Amino acid sequence: MGSLGFNCAVVVAMVLGLIVNVPELCNGGKTSTFVRKVEKTVDMPLDSDVFAVPSGYNAPQQVHLTQGDLVGKAVIVSWVTEDEPGLSVVHYWSEKSTQKKVAKGKFVTYRYFNYTSGFIHHCTIRGLEFNTKYYYEVGIGNTTRQFWFITPPEVGPDVPYTFGLIGDLGQSFDSNKTLTHYEMNPREGQTVLFVGDLSYADNYPNHDNVRWDTWGRFVERSTAYQPWIWTAGNHEIDFAPEIGETKPFKPYSHRYHVPYKASQSTSPFWYSIKRASAHIIVLSSYSAYGKYTPQYKWLEEELPKVNRTETPWLIVLMHSPWYNSYNYHYMEGETMRVMYEPWFVKYKVDVVFAGHVHAYERSERVSNVAYNVVNGLCTPVRDQSAPVYITIGDGGNLEGLATNMTYPQPEYSAYREASFGHAIFDIKNRTHAHYSWHRNQDGYAVEADSLWFFNRFWHPVDDSTSQTTN
Ligand SMILES: [Fe+2]
Repeated sequence: MGSLGFNCAVVVAMVLGLIVNVPELCNGGKTSTFVRKVEKTVDMPLDSDVFAVPSGYNAPQQVHLTQGDLVGKAVIVSWVTEDEPGLSVVHYWSEKSTQKKVAKGKFVTYRYFNYTSGFIHHCTIRGLEFNTKYYYEVGIGNTTRQFWFITPPEVGPDVPYTFGLIGDLGQSFDSNKTLTHYEMNPREGQTVLFVGDLSYADNYPNHDNVRWDTWGRFVERSTAYQPWIWTAGNHEIDFAPEIGETKPFKPYSHRYHVPYKASQSTSPFWYSIKRASAHIIVLSSYSAYGKYTPQYKWLEEELPKVNRTETPWLIVLMHSPWYNSYNYHYMEGETMRVMYEPWFVKYKVDVVFAGHVHAYERSERVSNVAYNVVNGLCTPVRDQSAPVYITIGDGGNLEGLATNMTYPQPEYSAYREASFGHAIFDIKNRTHAHYSWHRNQDGYAVEADSLWFFNRFWHPVDDSTSQTTN
């Protein structure tokens, strides 16, 4: 009888729980009804034109740029030579001048199981003028290759600037479509914020590092001309003790350098930069982030330093999303959310971009910081101090789309769709930024999802009610 009574109580509690929860759970945002043609996502073969090695003996290849200091007056130029080291120098000149200058760099190599890398050069050009077009050359004699980049305007609150967002790109036919759509977008960004998972070389036997080289050649058409701001994803870890490879991030950290020391970081996997009117914080989902760890201590000191009068826009990049309603990687970001979310709310982070889940999702402004183990308060609630969370892991890698979503759509999820694409975060001034997501199936100018951001610091009103175009 006692047991029956207990069972009845449980059933009543469950029914009550359902009644209480149903209105919340059913009150979610939009799950797109866009019907995408289902095709297998496969990597481009090694003889694809996008992987072609530049002609000429020891020609520089895999040329890529990233910001080289805290404010954008320096650029790190990286490239690979395969036959011999060659010269680790960059010749560069401003379009206002014909006088060539020289910056000296260094090269590194590494071995990974049975693979030996080429000579990976990194050269930081410093003392550049803001808002200036520079031409640069790498290589020697007949195999010199020339590119260009444009430095950002000086850091300031009303400086317009446009960022592209790409994640989980890989090197499939779909990856190529994503990159092309980004390049052909009439609002193409001036810098790419890349949210992790670059080459997916680790999906090949023994993490075939040749696929790191092919990826570098594939993206060169963009990375040689505008900086890509790098975030480490799980496909950068390359931890493979079964083949004797036990140093995490070995290929990634040899190939992709970032200016982490400029923001007093002690590791290339978490750092910050300022660019135009944005302060961008990059975090590592795959490095220790608990209390007392280097990443925790760094972020704890970094957030109070953000000067919203100088850089009104506070953007965070990480790989594993905190708010994700797909059945893929469900709750993988939860432990980091528990550690850092109160800070993001306190410091009014505008937007958090993550990847990892191979689909698109945008959240409402929500937080979930009231829980304290005993109070049971563990439901995300609307919070105008909270960031918008955007999952942009839809670059198109060989693992395919994440199509399986949780139902009903949670209330915090504003829009979600399992299609490949990229996004644009277009800062207009200190108060307004226009955000848009572009699916690969549409015309280059089509915005499949969009939102006006009103700045948390300068314009503290509810932007969740602003017009979206879905
Ligand atoms: Fe990932």
